[in-house]
Amino acid sequence: MSAVIEPTKTVQPRKAVLAMPEYHPPLAGRDALRLDFNENTFAPSPSVLRKLQQLTSEAMTIYPEREPVERIVADHFGLQRDRILLTNGVDEAIHLVACAFLDEGDEALICTPTFFMYDVSISLMTSGLKRVQSDDSLTFPFERFLAAITPKTKLIIIASPNNPTGATVSREHLLAIAAAAPQAVLMVDEAYFHFYGDTTIGDVGSIPNLIVARTFSKAYGLANLRIGMLAGDARLISFIRKVSSPYNVNGVALAVLPDAIADEAYINWYVDQVHGGRERIFAALHELHVRTWPSAANFVLMDIGPRHKELCAAMRKRGVLLRDRSADPGCDGYVRITVGVEDHVTRGIAALRESLAEIGWTPAEGRGQA
Ligand SMILES: Cc1ncc(COP(=O)(O)O)c(C=O)c1O
Repeated sequence: MSAVIEPTKTVQPRKAVLAMPEYHPPLAGRDALRLDFNENTFAPSPSVLRKLQQLTSEAMTIYPEREPVERIVADHFGLQRDRILLTNGVDEAIHLVACAFLDEGDEALICTPTFFMYDVSISLMTSGLKRVQSDDSLTFPFERFLAAITPKTKLIIIASPNNPTGATVSREHLLAIAAAAPQAVLMVDEAYFHFYGDTTIGDVGSIPNLIVARTFSKAYGLANLRIGMLAGDARLISFIRKVSSPYNVNGVALAVLPDAIADEAYINWYVDQVHGGRERIFAALHELHVRTWPSAANFVLMDIGPRHKELCAAMRKRGVLLRDRSADPGCDGYVRITVGVEDHVTRGIAALRESLAEIGWTPAEGRGQA
């Protein structure tokens, strides 16, 4: 009789999978005011909701067709159709870009702290991930970043505005980085574009190594439908399309996307809500002597210091979720709050005042105002 082999020990994944970091966002128990994931805190456009109600049961039985909607999206952005790829959120877009362009040994470059999925997707493809750490100002370290580019650099990912800092990178700096690394893809992640307003999407086509990512999860309020997009040089997009499933975007998301992008009045309203709310949150934190950093996104990062967990627990008790970013590099004691619609901001600020008072927080525990 052959020896019994423990099945869990028999099959091993790729070495890169064993070594790669795990990403477990705290999704459980979110039946509260969600100021933790930078989502739209309210709802998508009413025209999206109307379209959802019109979907038939037969529509659920059909494999989704991405191309006609890609044409509509390309027209919306004034781009040729072959320069757009719709994806299952920007999460998938990051994964597809890493899969399409990175071999083991290639270098990829990011600036930390930043969105953790870059680490996950890049580490799966190569052990050559280089992280350039921001200093305490949490601004983009342009000179040090440029200096980190080498002939082996194949992929650069920069979020502007960045998550969790809210910091931006100027178009001039982004184009300088693209020019300094012509052998690399520069992916600019514009997930928070609407709350900022500046974009490099107009440079797609003229900058051959530029790819811009946009999500419909944030301002558009479609996080649950998982839809995002890549815009870039047609040749680069064709490589990424090759590694994508033809059915990567579900038909419900495809059905509502044209309505979502057509309703500019709704997006403008939501962005105005966030801009107003961001000012109110900054003002409240200033008054409370909590250190913050400038943010061009729909969230604000604050320095609470050693009792960051206590603050998050006190907020949760009041039915408001914050995101503890303390484990991010260079973010010890930092907590992020999402900016939503007016009423949600009012509730968030009231809960913050009460929670800081309850835990007996004093400005000396953070590092005061920057
Ligand atoms: C910078 C950044 N990029 C991408 C994403 C993910 O977007 P999606 O929901 O489209 O996958 C996030 C989500 O928080 C983000 O912060």
